[in-house]
Amino acid sequence: MPPDETRIEPPLALLAELTHRCPLRCPYCSNPLKLERASDELTEAEWRRVLGEAAALGVLQVHFSGGEPMARRDLASLIGEAAGRGLYSNLITSGTLGGERELRAFAEAGLKHVQLSFQDVTAADNDRIAGLAGAHARKSAFAQAVRAVGLPLTLNIVVHRQNLGGVDQMIEMALSLGARRLEIAHVQYYAWALTNRAAFLPTRAQLDTATRTVEAARERLKGVLAIDYVVPDYHGVRPKSCMNGWGRRFLNISPAGKVLPCHAAETLPGLSFPSVRDAGLADIWYRSEAFNRFRGTDWMAEPCRNCERRTIDWGGCRCQAFLLTGDAARADPVCALSPDHGVVEAALREAERPVEAFVYRQYG
Ligand code: SF4
Ligand code: FES
Repeated sequence: MPPDETRIEPPLALLAELTHRCPLRCPYCSNPLKLERASDELTEAEWRRVLGEAAALGVLQVHFSGGEPMARRDLASLIGEAAGRGLYSNLITSGTLGGERELRAFAEAGLKHVQLSFQDVTAADNDRIAGLAGAHARKSAFAQAVRAVGLPLTLNIVVHRQNLGGVDQMIEMALSLGARRLEIAHVQYYAWALTNRAAFLPTRAQLDTATRTVEAARERLKGVLAIDYVVPDYHGVRPKSCMNGWGRRFLNISPAGKVLPCHAAETLPGLSFPSVRDAGLADIWYRSEAFNRFRGTDWMAEPCRNCERRTIDWGGCRCQAFLLTGDAARADPVCALSPDHGVVEAALREAERPVEAFVYRQYG
């Protein structure tokens, strides 16, 4: 039966993955294992059309991301297109390409916010995880340039077993760089990160110490620095509401124009994702098989089907369910009610053994 379109709400946000090119080699990279080539990327004219379609569909925010979106020469022009369409635009960047001159052009084009990633507090640790010498120095200069052009700055630091002890120093760094917001987000174990899970999943004791530090800082810094804190869902008893539910609020567009309900959706077998080169965004959002496959609750089996949280967490993450059980239609195994929860408990036991070595993200 075709979906009842009157029950489907329009999306709120678009993640525009402009390119998979990136100067960093983070071992927990969330981009797909098979990267799209620069020669396949949507052109500036195609992105302009897509931004117009997104605004007409009801999208309010566009997040320009990658890879490293500043690898695209037409970024200022695309920001201008988004602003002209009434879209709030945010730049998600590693801060390792360009600086004040580019940022000033982005601000003039209508950029509203910059989200800058760091891998760690010290230059040595940051550059070791990023796989790029000098990255920390470039990022620090970039943060200063963001403030110099008057844009609000959020720092994003991915945390894991190897840096979780430094949460206090991360908060100090965010304050010293003039950030208004700090996101401390644990590694999510998809794509490349799943390969390196044994090196990054923290122990319960580490997590509890970090959580206490964050809670105390939130109290102390009220009105000065907002701190978002995303804990590793492996340590929880119920899953996250991934993407706020499949096909409910968000859509991703890959560098070559594939439209996805989440950044990892291409790992799911048996689904084909339409391209903006072949169909309109509204058609894809409301009518494509891919967006309707896990929308709502009709697809659920037990224990989700009759669970009181089924419209709160929407059964958790489809991609994690597939990666850990081989079946995307099962409950997310991080849920303690899932019959597959044992695979998560086994990973947590593994986290008690110290493993330092990881494999860098490889391009090409
Ligand atoms: Fe969520 Fe399903 Fe677990 Fe209920 S059983 S909490 S719906 S994942
Ligand atoms: Fe794909 Fe969660 S990352 S549904």
